Amino acid sequence: MQAIVVTEAGGPEVLVPQDRPDPEPGPGQVVVRMAAANINPTDVGARQGLYPPGFGIEGPPYVLGWDLAGTVVAVGEGVADGPAGIGPFGPGDEVVGMIPWYAAGAAYGAYQELVLLEARWLVRRPEALSAVDAATIPLNALTAEQAIGVLGAPEGAELLITGASGAVGSFAVQLAVAQGFRVVAQAGTGDDAWVEDLGAARVLSRDADLASAGTFRWVLDMVPLGRHAFPAIADGGTVVTTRVVRAEAGRGIVQRPMLIEEDTAGLERLVEGVATGGLRTRVSRTMPLADAAQAHAVVEEPGRHGKIVLVP
Ligand SMILES: NC(=O)c1ccc[n+]([C@@H]2O[C@H](COP(=O)([O-])OP(=O)(O)OC[C@H]3O[C@@H](n4cnc5c(N)ncnc54)[C@H](OP(=O)(O)O)[C@@H]3O)[C@@H](O)[C@H]2O)c1
Repeated sequence: MQAIVVTEAGGPEVLVPQDRPDPEPGPGQVVVRMAAANINPTDVGARQGLYPPGFGIEGPPYVLGWDLAGTVVAVGEGVADGPAGIGPFGPGDEVVGMIPWYAAGAAYGAYQELVLLEARWLVRRPEALSAVDAATIPLNALTAEQAIGVLGAPEGAELLITGASGAVGSFAVQLAVAQGFRVVAQAGTGDDAWVEDLGAARVLSRDADLASAGTFRWVLDMVPLGRHAFPAIADGGTVVTTRVVRAEAGRGIVQRPMLIEEDTAGLERLVEGVATGGLRTRVSRTMPLADAAQAHAVVEEPGRHGKIVLVP
């Protein structure tokens, strides 16, 4: 089977198709025939050899990819019985899931025809949801949901969300609005209408001067802009960032970097939310797995509106 292997840290050209033996599932594991694998910014970082410390990742070779949808082709011991929190899954089941790529030590990856996974990382894909749309959900929607949780704003509060038309930000806007928050959203280039459609009460454009946009007690900095967002944070405010920001905001501002955690029940709920139309996701285009290097080059170009998803 074909896998796209990062041969060394570097540009898109280090993503090289290789033939690898078909994986065999061990106890609690599943092999999925990939139908869609989403490309995320964190994949681009890992391709360049950049990842958060503390996970013991030593560098390439490895296969990238957190998010995928596909069909179960083989299950290991215990998976068909469905012990607490796992499946049950069997061959033919349509699934969607997320590899916690850092926590799994870069030992698993979605950019391949046959993907080995722990069964607990998967949920069923509802029929109403395409595999391509499904693959855009796990990392992005879970991060958005968990970021709102980490922020801990009181009911009905006003939130500023940066990067609001990005993959994480778009889910953050929708989930925050659904939870009753008033959202002020900073959109990406040419994406004001999309963010307004998602329910933002007020939209700031990409080049808005945040310092003159007012100050906010509660901020989800999903880009993250880091110190460039500080002028928009009220004294004593709280900001959640999707990466560690190495600058002190001062003025009593609380900075909370967050890193996604596995949450199978949360994933099931969010997948259902998109399948039933309550939540929206956006795909810019699909590209063949074998063209993963070109797909990464596209991801790194400006002006995308939605995800680039690999398909077999
Ligand atoms: N901590 C975690 O667990 C976790 C999980 C998932 C993602 N992340 C991180 O979260 C971030 C967002 O991910 P994503 O998938 O949502 O990315 P994305 O889809 O590329 O979206 C990024 C958004 O930020 C905007 N943006 C970029 N630079 C900006 C700037 N200087 N000023 C204003 N807006 C700017 C972009 O607008 P344009 O289109 O105009 O550039 C776009 O709307 C990434 O850094 C990613 O690595 C962290």
